[in-house]
Amino acid sequence: MRFVAGLKCHVCGASYPPEALWVCSECLGPLEVTYDYAAIRSAISREAIESRPHSLWRYRELLPVDEPRTGFHSGFTPLVRATRLARELGVAEVYIKDDSVNHPTFSYKDRVVSVAASRAVDLGFQVFGCASTGNLAGSVAAHAARLGLPCYVFIPHDLEPSKVLGAAIYRPHVVAVEGNYDDVNRLCTQIADRYGWGFANINLRAYYAEGAKTMAFEIAEQLGWRFPDHVVSPVAGGTLLPRIVKGFREFQDLGLVDGALPKVHAAQPAGSAPVVRALEAGLEYPEPVKPNTIAKSLAIGNPADGFQVVARVRETGGQGAMVSDEEILDAVQLLAQTEGIFTEPAGGTTLAGARALVERGVIKPHESMVVCITGNGYKTAEVMYDRVTQPTQIGRGFAEFERVIGSQLGVPAGAQA
Ligand SMILES: Cc1ncc(COP(=O)(O)O)c(C=O)c1O
Ligand SMILES: [Zn+2]
Repeated sequence: MRFVAGLKCHVCGASYPPEALWVCSECLGPLEVTYDYAAIRSAISREAIESRPHSLWRYRELLPVDEPRTGFHSGFTPLVRATRLARELGVAEVYIKDDSVNHPTFSYKDRVVSVAASRAVDLGFQVFGCASTGNLAGSVAAHAARLGLPCYVFIPHDLEPSKVLGAAIYRPHVVAVEGNYDDVNRLCTQIADRYGWGFANINLRAYYAEGAKTMAFEIAEQLGWRFPDHVVSPVAGGTLLPRIVKGFREFQDLGLVDGALPKVHAAQPAGSAPVVRALEAGLEYPEPVKPNTIAKSLAIGNPADGFQVVARVRETGGQGAMVSDEEILDAVQLLAQTEGIFTEPAGGTTLAGARALVERGVIKPHESMVVCITGNGYKTAEVMYDRVTQPTQIGRGFAEFERVIGSQLGVPAGAQA
């Protein structure tokens, strides 16, 4: 790893070699990858990045991997200019960062897993696994299948059926735990320790988290090497949001993008909003909550990186927004009907949060914002059944069409379009 300096404790600053370590032995703080930025500065340029294939590996100097093993088509998802949605929200420039079409498993998790899986191979893990609210399980299982690695994914017992199938299809061991995500995570920590398996979001977490920075890199590059005024990110375990901030800072420090850093805002469902509550209450560390929300992929009551989210949001001048299940589903509908993008409730949470921030005057009408849509609606289609109108039933003949539909269009009989 040419540019990796090592691992560093996020709390006390202690240094460690870049191995399969994830907590500081001094203070139990989380470990982060650090780089030799001086060396990166002379190795990287806008032109070099632009000349590379459209995947997250185009930013390889800023990722902790020598040789990517998987994820060759992950990342570099579309940044969609959302003009109809912008008009609806009353904001000048709105973009959707559309990870609902990430490869291979249609969520932002393909970014973090590409890095964690490559690292798992390099570190010699014989089994790859994770604790998941659904999307991570699918991604870990898919990448393990490609790599031929035995795989165990652990999920709460009450996930959406398509999420379970979306992991099981790759033939991992799927273990459904009677409990919520926080119980699953605790169990997996013990298993990782006892069995020596590589868990993407536990003992490989320092590397996994680095993959999330690529969302920020892509936003800046796809905007023409500039920053937006605002970014709205969902928060569950708290991996993504702080790494979006880290990614923007790295691009700024390396001289790849000039200008002020974006304000980065956190969106959570009201039924699982420990981070937003901490932001509003002026706390440094979120108080754990018991999740109860339709946005199951965001149902984490005790986020591993919650304190980092709180700190980064405040540093950028961002805010938190929590939204009801009803607002989440309204936003899923709104995104679909204005921009043709079908997201799951996690994406609905982010868009509803963005909308609330506009209504509160935090995001202003003349500004630009990027809404991070991190998951795909087809995996949770059942949440929208009640809201979608049934098809109009007609018989086979043209007369049937005219009787049921044509007659209501005010087109005179026999008129040609
Ligand atoms: C679709 C989706 N969006 C966002 C998140 C939140 O991610 P993080 O744990 O990085 O906060 C998750 C996973 O937990 C997810 O599945
Ligand atoms: Zn420490």
